[in-house]
Amino acid sequence: MIDSHAHLNDEAFIDNLDEVLLDARKSGIKTIICPGWDIESSIKAIKIAEREDDIYASIGIHPENVKDAKDEDLLKIEELSSNKKVVAIGEIGLDYHYGKDTIELQKEYLLKQLALSTKKNLPVIIHLREATEDFLNIIKEYTEKNGKHEKIGVMHCYSGSTETMKILLDLGFYISFGGPVTFKNAKTVKETALLCPLDRLLIETDSPYLAPHPLRGTVNTPKNVSLVLKEIAKIKGIDEKIIEENVEKNLYFLFNIKGE
Ligand code: NI
Repeated sequence: MIDSHAHLNDEAFIDNLDEVLLDARKSGIKTIICPGWDIESSIKAIKIAEREDDIYASIGIHPENVKDAKDEDLLKIEELSSNKKVVAIGEIGLDYHYGKDTIELQKEYLLKQLALSTKKNLPVIIHLREATEDFLNIIKEYTEKNGKHEKIGVMHCYSGSTETMKILLDLGFYISFGGPVTFKNAKTVKETALLCPLDRLLIETDSPYLAPHPLRGTVNTPKNVSLVLKEIAKIKGIDEKIIEENVEKNLYFLFNIKGE
């Protein structure tokens, strides 16, 4: 099993990371991607990844953090991206829910980090909230200029519509589902999970956030990805084992990781 998105670098795990990782491994998790959201958290993600064979880092400036970012931060991200354990640029993206006052800056950081991902031949991990139209416009224009990538990246904790998902799939994106797919009234997320093709599907926890049902409201950890897996298997009416095989294969392919 895999967890395609867990913030092991979050302060929630400062005192118990070893224990959390032990629990994850005991429950069968073989690979975890740990994304940063600013320089400090990106460096921390790399440190954890360098220490643990089964953890890989993703680095970048999150849309909520662009207001505190400095010009040299993008150069720093580029420098850090040469590290062998860095497998993606992210999380990056657009968030107009929390960032209405930084829209132009968010777009600028998104474009610059997309360019970096192309330069470094790394996929992106995208955070998208209440900014679908602008995001699609930016990505469409970007791929028209730079060509379509087979491994453009993943939409992390996808919560958009099925119509938007189809456009994202056409652009080459993988779709990752987290805790919200297990929530009782998450009709749209369940519907997109049903329609997401197996060869583009990923699962994640977004630890320490978004703990799945029935653990909602607790500190989320990678071992809880099994609850996401179970729910998707149930929604699709497909054996858990098949889902597991597919998400593992997808993760290793997208992030260029050599699986077992
Ligand atoms: Ni995240």
